[in-house]
Amino acid sequence: MSASSRQRAVPARGRGAFRPVPALPSAPTDRLVCPADGVVRPTEGTADVAAHQGTRVFVSGAGRGIGAALARRFAAEGARVAVNDLDADAAGAVAEEIGGVAVPGDAAGEQGVADLIKQATAALGGGIEIYCANAGVPTGGGPDAPEEDWALAWDVNVMAHVRAARILLPEWLERGEGRFVATVSAAGLLTMVGAAPYSVTKHGAHAFAEWLSLTYRHRGVHVHAICPQGVRTDMLAVTGEAGDLVLRPTAIEPEQVADALLAGIAEDRFLILPHPEVGDYYAVRAAEPDRWLGGMNKVQRKLEGQA
Ligand SMILES: NC(=O)c1ccc[n+]([C@@H]2O[C@H](COP(=O)([O-])OP(=O)(O)OC[C@H]3O[C@@H](n4cnc5c(N)ncnc54)[C@H](O)[C@@H]3O)[C@@H](O)[C@H]2O)c1
Repeated sequence: MSASSRQRAVPARGRGAFRPVPALPSAPTDRLVCPADGVVRPTEGTADVAAHQGTRVFVSGAGRGIGAALARRFAAEGARVAVNDLDADAAGAVAEEIGGVAVPGDAAGEQGVADLIKQATAALGGGIEIYCANAGVPTGGGPDAPEEDWALAWDVNVMAHVRAARILLPEWLERGEGRFVATVSAAGLLTMVGAAPYSVTKHGAHAFAEWLSLTYRHRGVHVHAICPQGVRTDMLAVTGEAGDLVLRPTAIEPEQVADALLAGIAEDRFLILPHPEVGDYYAVRAAEPDRWLGGMNKVQRKLEGQA
């Protein structure tokens, strides 16, 4: 995807333009609204104690794929979810389905992120408690990839996270609570053959998530880095031969990524590995870099028809 095609994907009403906000679903009868904070909580003795009841959640790139699965899962857990996507129709459809609010627009640019957080905060009736920086672009190629492709990958895959954190942190630190979820990729721990901009920027996203976690974990800010290999979404479909070789054989469903995140949140675990074997590869990469690089080069040669 090029910078110009992303621009075209911004809704005609422009960056930061939003659809009317539908009413949030009313509380089920087995739950009560706490008069102190307006949060809906299960009544005493209710077995169905949803983990994220009333939590205000924002998910970028949630019109489809992994983001939509995260939005659906948080909504099923009782959260109030702001569904963002560049594709306004897709964001609207998911928001309607889950009783959330649609906040279409660009979740990467500095102004776009600021506008979206402001709009979501108003629509959700308070500050965002869980921010999922999920939108990403699968930019392939090597150093030969055009400047604008590298710039777009940097903007969406890394700076979007930095810009959101810059806005959210002051309130989270004051409150002593906040949760930042970065959809990274196994490419951010390892490296994806055939895709230097994607690999480099996903490493950047992982590094930023680590930095956030180590800097603020004692102040109530929880950070999670989701690092799956192949996931059956539109993005997987554009990964070509490299994707066919290394991602497709073990690809999982977006719902499995959401399951892994919710389990990781319950355990307050930083690294979310929907494909557990990625942890083993990551360990080999750290302990025996040349052996790991040799193995990855074998994959590269296979792609070139040499192995
Ligand atoms: N699918 C995989 O195999 C896979 C594996 C590892 C990591 N990931 C990561 O998961 C995340 C979600 O990917 P997916 O597979 O669901 O892709 P997808 O293409 O199905 O969905 C991505 C969504 O993000 C939206 N988007 C792109 N740029 C945006 C922006 N600037 N602002 C708002 N929305 C924007 C797109 O319109 C699209 O709806 C990405 O960060 C991706 O890198 C995907």
